[in-house]
Amino acid sequence: VSPRATIGRPEWVSTVGVGARHRPVRDAAAIRHHYDVGNEFYQLWLDARQVYSCAYFHHADVSLDAAQWAKLDLVCRKLRLLPGERLLDVGCGWGALIHHAVENYGVTAVGITLSPAQAVAARQRIRQAGMDDRCHVELLDYRDVGALGAFDKIASVGMVEHVGSAQLQAYFDALFRVLRPGGLLLNHGIVSLHGARPASAAARLRRRMWRSGAFIDRYIFPDGELVTLGESTMHAEAAGFEVRDVEGLRPHYTLTLRQWLARLDARRDEAIKLVGAERFRAWRLYLAGSAQAFDSGWLGVAQILASRSATDGGSALPLTRHDLYCQP
Ligand SMILES: C[S@@+](CC[C@H](N)C(=O)[O-])C[C@H]1O[C@@H](n2cnc3c(N)ncnc32)[C@H](O)[C@@H]1O
Repeated sequence: VSPRATIGRPEWVSTVGVGARHRPVRDAAAIRHHYDVGNEFYQLWLDARQVYSCAYFHHADVSLDAAQWAKLDLVCRKLRLLPGERLLDVGCGWGALIHHAVENYGVTAVGITLSPAQAVAARQRIRQAGMDDRCHVELLDYRDVGALGAFDKIASVGMVEHVGSAQLQAYFDALFRVLRPGGLLLNHGIVSLHGARPASAAARLRRRMWRSGAFIDRYIFPDGELVTLGESTMHAEAAGFEVRDVEGLRPHYTLTLRQWLARLDARRDEAIKLVGAERFRAWRLYLAGSAQAFDSGWLGVAQILASRSATDGGSALPLTRHDLYCQP
């Protein structure tokens, strides 16, 4: 998609060539529609590491850079990463998590993304940091992770939103197969809180925001689909995972989105030069509307920590969660 192209529902959505919703070819086209808008555009309003998922705020007034660092580190600590372990990051974006994990936890890491623009930028950063021998990025669909071998730990942060209800079982099955027995998966994603409740008239109206063909689907995330926390855990368990911890981070996404919006507004002129006024306004509306959706409790975001038990039932988790939240 050319950054200056008129925005709208991409033509391929209704063409036969890319197939039905969530077929691999169509998923790849949907991802390019959103992420290949241009690295420079995202650089304007994301944090310095370009993390494109909910941050973790120790206080509401913490900077976005610090809150994203805290989120990356929380993910690594929840996974109990150890030197020499092999980490897979599913939907690695611009590579911030693999970079953090290799630098601070001594793991080797592979990130996968469907966005060519992200892969190019992430590989360049890895080269510049001299980490080529310890991590790399593949342009690969999650359904093909079997080609990468086995992993001790798996992270998936802000990616499951692209999977869709119908493919959720295939997603958890694919991750389970490449996780070594005793290993851990940290799945961090937006969940539909409203979708879990019986629908009132008001709720039905608000559901249209994410409905197929509605604003977000049409202009921002073609084929994005939010599932409930219950659906996610159900499919994870059906794949063979044992759900060990669940943490809801909803207020953190409101804070993240407000910072993204303020930063985009502060770079308004540059953003319009890069992507045009129409797309700028669409992105503003998406960020502001999403902040409101999290703030009002319509959407949530949850981290699910799940283990694949070893044959003796063991896993990489300690008895308590003391290590996560108490500083020595
Ligand atoms: C919102 S971004 C999150 C990026 C990163 N995890 C972060 O927190 O900054 C979603 C990522 O998922 C990737 N993705 C979406 N669908 C995918 C698929 N079918 N297979 C592999 N990656 C996919 C996108 O390319 C993108 O890198």
